[in-house]
Amino acid sequence: MLRDSFGRVATDLRVSLTDKCNLRCSYCMPPEGLEWLPNAQLLTADEIVRLVTIGVERLGIQEVRYTGGEPLLRRELVDIVGRTTALRPRPQVSLTTNGIGLARVAAPLAAAGLDRVNVSLDTLDRDTFKRLAHRDRFPDVIAGLAAAHDAGLRPVKVNAVLMREVNQHEAVPLLRYCLEQGYELRFIEQMPLDAQHGWSRDTMVTANEILKLLSASFDLTADDQEERGSAPAERFLVDGGPGRVGVIGSVTRPFCAACDRVRLTADGQIRNCLFATEESDLKAAMRAGASDDELAERWIAAVTRKKAGHGIDDPSFLQPSRPMSAIGG
Ligand code: GTP
Ligand code: 5AD
Ligand code: SF4
Repeated sequence: MLRDSFGRVATDLRVSLTDKCNLRCSYCMPPEGLEWLPNAQLLTADEIVRLVTIGVERLGIQEVRYTGGEPLLRRELVDIVGRTTALRPRPQVSLTTNGIGLARVAAPLAAAGLDRVNVSLDTLDRDTFKRLAHRDRFPDVIAGLAAAHDAGLRPVKVNAVLMREVNQHEAVPLLRYCLEQGYELRFIEQMPLDAQHGWSRDTMVTANEILKLLSASFDLTADDQEERGSAPAERFLVDGGPGRVGVIGSVTRPFCAACDRVRLTADGQIRNCLFATEESDLKAAMRAGASDDELAERWIAAVTRKKAGHGIDDPSFLQPSRPMSAIGG
């Protein structure tokens, strides 16, 4: 079991398959992109599956989420998903993606056993999308979402990061659109995880503000049908339901005390927190011939050292040296 010194148990493994991305969302990376990890440093599909297997069979991992960068850029994704859903006990397997290319692979992913998908969509306006993501790919994302829904991946969740003077005015239209399409929308507070280190409290649209923006047009009531557990989103029924909306207040309403996550980066490092300042190198150990037992021991030790929380409000807070795209969203 992966238990930290505060008694939290990690059962949710988030695996970044690549640090590369085909968008350049301003809250994540600069328009020119970043220096990507050399291919030789990325875990191979076999190495990924080996570590995930250790997590599921020996360490109590119950949910595996593939993320990035952009996970659809990994050609072996369908194979990796298929090998993950074949594990016993069968983990829940999900994907967090920007949606580009999903139109093509949603059906093969569903056939490989993928359970669910979360897609980033911050705007309904093609020009705003271009300005925000520095690529003209809005239609691809919309097509990807529709394909995921058609392939039976349920629920399809949509992630939107609101930014002042960029897309804040789209909160209501985004929710209307998602309700119509049957997608579960979550608004996310922007976190200090961008490569440019440009985050500031002033530009962040807070959970309170988001709720106020939505309340002008919708009647929101707390959704207490399902336990929140370790979920990052606080959920609300819209106009009495069944439609829902979530708000992920990572900064102003942190959920660290209930955190059940552990991360594996594309270059094989265990990170016990999004905001961790140290990592544990499973790739080096694996490539030096470590046994499954030894890898499991290292992993357990890495989780033990997990901090109480992200500490964004501490005067001594330091943004992690890796940006979100290299950690895994
Ligand atoms: P589900 O609700 O189970 O689908 O997962 P999720 O919300 O964790 O998935 P997703 O990958 O879509 O992440 C959405 C957002 O949650 C991210 O943009 C982050 O803002 C936030 N988030 C995810 N993991 C963490 C975490 O470990 N710590 C913090 N503070 N925020 C996280
Ligand atoms: N703050 C909050 N969310 C972010 N994401 C990427 N960068 C940030 C950030 N700085 C979101 C993406 C994606 C999810 C995994 O993380 O929009 O939906
Ligand atoms: Fe968990 Fe760290 Fe995320 Fe907090 S910031 S929820 S402790 S991973």
